[in-house]
Amino acid sequence: MSRTEFDQNFPYGLDRPRQARGTLSAGMGLGVLALVLAFVLGDLGGPNGLVVLVLLIAFVATFVISAGLFRTSRTTKVQAADRMLDGLDLRGDERAVDLGCGTGLLCAGLAVRLPEGSVVGVDSWVENDLQPTGRALAKKTLQLAGVKKVSILTGSVRELPLADASMDLAVSRDALGSLPSKDARREAIEELARVIVPDGRVALLEPLRSRELAALLTAAGFRDVRRSKRWWLLMPPHRLITATR
Ligand SMILES: C[S@@+](CC[C@H](N)C(=O)[O-])C[C@H]1O[C@@H](n2cnc3c(N)ncnc32)[C@H](O)[C@@H]1O
Repeated sequence: MSRTEFDQNFPYGLDRPRQARGTLSAGMGLGVLALVLAFVLGDLGGPNGLVVLVLLIAFVATFVISAGLFRTSRTTKVQAADRMLDGLDLRGDERAVDLGCGTGLLCAGLAVRLPEGSVVGVDSWVENDLQPTGRALAKKTLQLAGVKKVSILTGSVRELPLADASMDLAVSRDALGSLPSKDARREAIEELARVIVPDGRVALLEPLRSRELAALLTAAGFRDVRRSKRWWLLMPPHRLITATR
């Protein structure tokens, strides 16, 4: 299947559906409120006009943000996955894991780039994180990408179903930073330290808590921990955190 066909058929899924739809609804509500107030108040000179103007500005801002959230889910996360994986300068024989693999997008990208390696995706299929979700969704992506040798495992990033020192590389997008507590995030990073071989690498593309994740990686014994500038391609903008075991 060609790249264009893949892009057209990829089962995008909506990231964080509750937040995306909530932001869109809030924007619509503000727009309607501005119009109703403008109609009811009639005279928009002085403070009345200012209130309507502020509501309209809030409407436009919320609308732009929600358009960005939908655009990220529908298109730019595919571009970001390519940018992320191309930047890793892979040898082609690494054993790699994608944490919170969701749609299977990173798994598919890894499998294409690791002809001599192996790829595992791990996810616990949280409904409010991705809609639709489930193993079948990831499998569909892999089928579209024409890759066969990928294992999709159901499990938690806080207790990875992987042996000690069994992976050369771990990647993840928008999963670890949203775990529900700092303890949960620490557990996930400690699991990474357990499964990654010495000199193995980690690359996390995260919209939230990149500073905290970088600190947790350092505390877990990773070196060369780096945080990139924001990637405005994605909404909310993400940062790439890289580290070596
Ligand atoms: C916003 S989605 C991102 C999916 C995918 N990484 C992508 O880039 O398209 C977050 C994913 O993390 C998964 N997730 C959340 N908490 C998890 C946990 N404790 N263990 C494994 N997966 C988890 C969710 O099920 C969801 O698939």
